[in-house]
Amino acid sequence: MKKTQTSFNIETREIFKRLFGENTMLTEQLNRLLNDTTALIDSAGDTKTLYGIRVAVLGKNGSLTGILRGLKDLKNEERPVAGKLANDVRETIERELAQKEERLSDEEMERRLLYEKVDLTLDKKPFIVGKIHPLNAVLKKSVAFFVGLGFRVEESREIETVYYNFDALNTAPDHPARDAQDTFFITQDILLRSQTSTGQIRVMEKTRPPIRIISPGRVYRSDEADATHTPCFNQIEGLVVDKGVTMCDLKAVLESYAKFLFSDCTKIRFRPSYFPFTEPSVEVDASCPACHGSGCRICKGTGWIEILGAGMVNRNVLKGVGIDSDVYTGYAFGMGLNRITAIIHGITDARVPFEGDVRFLKQF
Ligand code: PHE
Repeated sequence: MKKTQTSFNIETREIFKRLFGENTMLTEQLNRLLNDTTALIDSAGDTKTLYGIRVAVLGKNGSLTGILRGLKDLKNEERPVAGKLANDVRETIERELAQKEERLSDEEMERRLLYEKVDLTLDKKPFIVGKIHPLNAVLKKSVAFFVGLGFRVEESREIETVYYNFDALNTAPDHPARDAQDTFFITQDILLRSQTSTGQIRVMEKTRPPIRIISPGRVYRSDEADATHTPCFNQIEGLVVDKGVTMCDLKAVLESYAKFLFSDCTKIRFRPSYFPFTEPSVEVDASCPACHGSGCRICKGTGWIEILGAGMVNRNVLKGVGIDSDVYTGYAFGMGLNRITAIIHGITDARVPFEGDVRFLKQF
């Protein structure tokens, strides 16, 4: 193999000599460094040693790096020439390293191919199969249920405007949810959606009834994380708008869903509630899947667990998106996926599903 040029470019050297004289410290330092490094590269017998040389000379704390860093302290007229000289040295060293590395790694590969043998009697490594995160598993199951009933999946955006998160959802200007303490505002008008109900408006704006969608996704609220709150969690929104849709339809769909999710003997109940975008509004409880209604720690002795909010789409909301509320009615529901997953699996700390701890994930 042709030996590489190991001294500086003649021209640079001449200029340097003229500027600083033959024996300036820098010329000497660089010359010595180049010679020493070249000798080391020549004698290196394997790629590991070569890597060590690379780090020691060109690495962050390498000797040449140190010299290059010192260039900034030179006088203005000295710096360009000295810089060129130091760079010549760096390029030469890099070229030599690369050439030697290629040769050594070829040799190493040849040696391995010659001497390494495969021991076919060795036991195989354990094969660890990844699993679906419990939140995703419950999401998939829920989506499959609603799709089976003819719902379409319509994901919506996480960054929204005040209009979609509040105004179009008939939320009064002084509603407490509009407060920065409850909602993450990006600007005065742009926010991280605090509910998937925003998707209702986006869908109704672009589609005419019959509408039958679910809209799963992440929502954000400026809550401090603790055992029962996380600043981000997942919801599934449902919306049906058609002629003759009643609260009975809502109840039937939610009851089948609760039975599908927990067990066949699950019952649900509606409690009157308030949401600006539904009228009437309800909160929906399921009979406790752990004790089947007799009262336990999970349902705090009541036999019931709240699973979602729902109601008939408020006329004002329909009007706002240009749907004739004398012809069409609709229902909507919104549930916390994290909460439902926690109920199913007995997860007592809302933060845990976000932590990615394999000891937790392995249990599912
Ligand atoms: N968006 C409501 C919430 O986040 C839930 C809801 C959705 C209620 C749809 C009624 C209808 O609490």
